[in-house]
Amino acid sequence: MRLSGKRIILGISGSIAAYKSASICRLLISEGAEVQVVMTESAIQFITPLTLSVLSKNPVATGMVRPDQTWENHIEKGLWADLILVAPASAQTLSAFAEGRCENLLQAVFLSARCPVMVAPAMDHDMYLHPSTSHNLAVLKSRGTLVLDTVTGELASGLYGEGRMQEPETILERVCLHFSNRNLPLSGKTILLSAGPTREPIDPVRFISNHSTGKMGIALAQALQESGAHVILVAGPLQRPVPKGIEHVPVETAAQMLMECLRYFPGCDGAIMSAAVADYRPVNPHDQKLKKNGAELNLNLEPTADILATLGQQKSANQVLVGFALETENELEHAQSKLERKNLDLIVLNSLRDVGAGFGTDTNKVTLLFRDKKTVEFPLLSKDETARRIVDSFIPLINANA
Ligand code: PMT
Repeated sequence: MRLSGKRIILGISGSIAAYKSASICRLLISEGAEVQVVMTESAIQFITPLTLSVLSKNPVATGMVRPDQTWENHIEKGLWADLILVAPASAQTLSAFAEGRCENLLQAVFLSARCPVMVAPAMDHDMYLHPSTSHNLAVLKSRGTLVLDTVTGELASGLYGEGRMQEPETILERVCLHFSNRNLPLSGKTILLSAGPTREPIDPVRFISNHSTGKMGIALAQALQESGAHVILVAGPLQRPVPKGIEHVPVETAAQMLMECLRYFPGCDGAIMSAAVADYRPVNPHDQKLKKNGAELNLNLEPTADILATLGQQKSANQVLVGFALETENELEHAQSKLERKNLDLIVLNSLRDVGAGFGTDTNKVTLLFRDKKTVEFPLLSKDETARRIVDSFIPLINANA
């Protein structure tokens, strides 16, 4: 039984998906978890507390004051749990969590919790895609709340789209994965990772970019996840699928990548920037497709912001920042200068002069340069093995700051 001895508060908020909470509760119990259920007033409209009480074998808490006029101790509940799982998490509950409101028992338990909180959003397509909901989810993620993706499918409104809660079996797997990861070296750590190229538009059909496929970044995401980290992957267009469980934030341009990195970095324990970010972008991208007229065409370019250097300026004493350097000459010298200039703890150097290294290949050959001037050179290895070795060197830096 994978959840033996684990204490889980199952929070249920008002959504038609609340009928699935009965299955979630049953699955958690069948894996050996002890479950206490907290329901909001609106959740009670969708499923009865009696059902959850029978399944959880515990009284169900629905308000700050019990029917016998005694106090429901939300602080005790927050301290009791190893995990608070809110499934379904309605738009209203997510908004209250993001704003720190305390208007019902579930919100009070959330605010008192010292354990991790996982939420499984459920709502209609348009509500899910509304900028307010995206903002609330981003705020929660940046504070370490584990936010499950929704799935696309038929919704209670009859519409088809994003916003369906994950199926109970998938939620159970995520809970089990969360606990199985807990004794790994990066358990409980959130790491920001950038990967892939950026695309800087010239007009609606053309852009400036580079040859990055995202293979190195995906290998790093996997290695970080296997070490127990929660990975936020801010990535330009990738030629590889993103592994399950990685929080993927897709972007196109350097400006978007900067914005997303700045949004997530404050809530992270560290960051690894493996993206090949365009250094220049067209000054005024054309609204309409440029027509060719046989004459020369000059593009005015302006520098993009250096994302890594910006994070280096904002880095706090307990965050670890790792950059990459892709060089073609004077490799060690250039990488050393980037390490210092961008205020990094570690830089991963790869050179296009090494056969099998760099863009698009399944292999890489890297040298790690540390702040204390130590260098470690690896032979040509698969990108997966290279990533594991980079992460092995990253772990002591993170732990030194813990
Ligand atoms: O994606 P693949 O096909 O697997 O290829 C992998 C890779 C070659 C892209 C990868 O191994 C790699 O070297 N990534 C960094 C490429 C790069 O842009 O290097 P750079 O030396 O120009 O940049 C130095 C560092 O600053 C990098 O961490 C980069 O992410 C960052 N940077 C650069 C420019 C900019 N405007 N903002 C940045 O944050």
